[in-house]
Amino acid sequence: MLLRDFIRESIESLSAFYPSDEARKLVLMLAQSRLGVKSYTHIIEPDTEVPCEFVDTLQTDIRRMLAGEPVQYVLGEAEFYGRMFRVAPGVLIPRPETEMLVQEALNHVHSDSSVLDLCTGSGCIAWTVSLEKPGCKVTAVDISDAALEVAESQPFGDSPRFIRADILDDPDQSVFGTYDVLLANPPYIMDSERAVMRKNVLDFEPDLALFVPDSDPLVYYRAIAVWAGKLLVRGGFAMVEINEKLGAETLALFEGAQLSDIRIVKDFFGKDRFIVFSK
Ligand SMILES: C[S@@+](CC[C@H](N)C(=O)[O-])C[C@H]1O[C@@H](n2cnc3c(N)ncnc32)[C@H](O)[C@@H]1O
Repeated sequence: MLLRDFIRESIESLSAFYPSDEARKLVLMLAQSRLGVKSYTHIIEPDTEVPCEFVDTLQTDIRRMLAGEPVQYVLGEAEFYGRMFRVAPGVLIPRPETEMLVQEALNHVHSDSSVLDLCTGSGCIAWTVSLEKPGCKVTAVDISDAALEVAESQPFGDSPRFIRADILDDPDQSVFGTYDVLLANPPYIMDSERAVMRKNVLDFEPDLALFVPDSDPLVYYRAIAVWAGKLLVRGGFAMVEINEKLGAETLALFEGAQLSDIRIVKDFFGKDRFIVFSK
């Protein structure tokens, strides 16, 4: 089978489910990852064949994508801050806005800093900070065994310390220690927002990573304020990702928690997306 035929036919099929630009992006991502070709190989080298041994795999991949499965789960990897991270069902696919959290946080992390990442998921924040600032000590926490297994399996060498813990429990300082920097991207989507979410997120990504009850949407931020109160050193810096609809309420929560320099940071769409504070 010619690569250009595979790409054209796959885009056509996926266009029934995705906008055509997105279908093209997904198919090219698949071809690049599985075959090691460039996004333009099928154009500048139109006679390129799909090697026989890859045809079955690619057809299975497209079938899974037609069933709505995100391409990152099909490939088992997702790009974050310029690196490919392992992902699997049971762990959230890292999102571009979280790269902004890392970028800002890196201004506050030094080679001798200690950093705590709450709700680590794939470990994308913890690993990136640890790789970008060699020497800093990163500890990361999640409640999910599936997430911790993926986080610990990332292929980057010296690992952050991963701990299974429920952040809704009070942290024991003698177990966790203290930190110069605290980062977190906790679940923050309200159950009522399911109605406007894409089916492939709802069907394939873990509820545990995404949702909070409408009756208590800031439950994880109350917990983060407690963890910051107990484990962040005086003068320490924290940054958390938030629900854009709850900026004012989340800000008020941290203001009531004896923390300082609290402010909202907007994402690249101008939405309230992060809160930073110091202790
Ligand atoms: C929004 S995901 C963030 C994952 C990753 N940090 C990222 O940015 O891609 C939230 C994570 O919080 C974890 N989580 C949910 N409830 C938790 C709890 N009570 N204690 C610790 N982690 C929890 C989930 O397992 C999930 O991995």
